[in-house]
Amino acid sequence: MAEKMKPEADVGLIGLAVMGQNLVLNMADHGYRVAVYNRTTSTMVEFVTEHPDTPGGLIPCKTLSSFVRHLKRPRKVIVLVQAGPAVDAVVTQLTRYLEKGDIIIDGGNSIWTDTIRRERELVAKGIHFVGSGVSGGEEGARFGPSLMPGGSKKAWRQIRPIWNAIAAKVDRKTGRPIEGAVPGKPVSGGVACTAHIGPDGAGHYVKMIHNGIEYGDMQLICEAFMLMKQLLGMSPGEMSKVFSAWNRGDLDSFLIQITADILQQRDPANPRHFLVDAILDAAGQKGTGKWTSVNALDMGVPAPSIAEAVFARCMSALKEERVGASRVLHGPRHLRKVPRKKFIDAIKDALYCAKICSYAQGFSLMTEATREYGWKLKFGQIAMIWRSGCIIRAGFLQKIKDAYDRNPRLPNLLLDPYFKRKLHTAQAHWRYVVSMASTTGVPIPQMMSALAYFDSYRSKVLPANLLQAQRDYFGAHTFERVDSPRGQMYHVDWPTDERPHVRVR
Ligand code: 2AM
Repeated sequence: MAEKMKPEADVGLIGLAVMGQNLVLNMADHGYRVAVYNRTTSTMVEFVTEHPDTPGGLIPCKTLSSFVRHLKRPRKVIVLVQAGPAVDAVVTQLTRYLEKGDIIIDGGNSIWTDTIRRERELVAKGIHFVGSGVSGGEEGARFGPSLMPGGSKKAWRQIRPIWNAIAAKVDRKTGRPIEGAVPGKPVSGGVACTAHIGPDGAGHYVKMIHNGIEYGDMQLICEAFMLMKQLLGMSPGEMSKVFSAWNRGDLDSFLIQITADILQQRDPANPRHFLVDAILDAAGQKGTGKWTSVNALDMGVPAPSIAEAVFARCMSALKEERVGASRVLHGPRHLRKVPRKKFIDAIKDALYCAKICSYAQGFSLMTEATREYGWKLKFGQIAMIWRSGCIIRAGFLQKIKDAYDRNPRLPNLLLDPYFKRKLHTAQAHWRYVVSMASTTGVPIPQMMSALAYFDSYRSKVLPANLLQAQRDYFGAHTFERVDSPRGQMYHVDWPTDERPHVRVR
């Protein structure tokens, strides 16, 4: 009997952890009928029982074969399981039941190289594979995430209506997020924060860069917090007001807004104190920041801000070692005679300038990846997709979109007239903050590293001439001369006298 049943589900989802559940509810809010399956059946049964009145309707499936039978053709299966071997396991099981033209969508945080491999393997079987970045956390998945799908254009055309419906929306004219989705009443109108990013692993790659930038944004905010705490002696409650004020200006963003919320939160266990002071300063990470940094090293693209943010988490995790070191290694005494209002303004500018550098590095990575993988990433469109729904959503992204609209081939964001002007006017404050931190011993690695990036990038001359001489001295690695065409290599037998250079090639 079951074999003859008419498929009625528009889409199916496997993996009912919180993200999966919320994505299902989001699709159902938009009238899609969703078949759901989970390895542990009780999780699926509980979920469906808890949501009897979803607008589109849920179809509970206890086996993978019945799940697949319920799906309308071409079947669209979203997989939201742990990145890594679990994705391969589910995909392998699924392919036993799927047919040519069906589509598997991996909505997890898979590394893009896995997505490239999986797409290639599935294309050979006639099955489409879409690696889609999904950002926005649990709340985003439920009410409108930022979605970054990669894969064939044919597959994109099939999933586009669903992706457009469930994605976050921004106002067509202002680019500002359209807020206000509630269960069963999704927001309508506006531009959806999704677009076809490119072939195979492009979507997951762009999602990884988003997360690398997110690491950077979070670390910069933490450094601003550290400066206000250590140099101005401000309480979390006082800082919360500063972040709220910043959220009404150039820095307006989800992360600044939640920081203002976090800093005013009292400790439920001890309401006279702020909760942030009760939280251990040892950070965790799941790997996307590390992947971004490793990729930067692999491609030879300078992205020190993002790497610095990853290392800052690693350093924080050495809690016991740092406690020991704090007893024996001393820095200068902290000077507390810093003019508060002026210094807060300076921190804001330092944060803004360092943020520009961090985003410039993220977009430089995508520029290089475009060459490396033959993708045609549209940077303005990517900035637009990040305008709402995702963790780094911010007014700032509209400025990046404007920059790439002005010049789609911009080699580096620092060169855009808007960002150039900002850096020129705010750098004095940035340098003031970095020098104060340096003389007082406050660790702000990312603000410092970003300044070094800025100063290096704008330097006509760097000391790599000496470096090349050193390499040639000990390893005959050769060097180019300033008065010869690029690519003409020279070598000398160091230490040398009047003997002529050897032209190598
Ligand atoms: P579970 O409830 O049976 O553990 C996040 O971990 C989600 O991925 C969960 O829904 C989990 O199912 C699912 N998951 C993890 N590993 C899996 C695997 N190897 N096969 C199928 N689902 C898996």
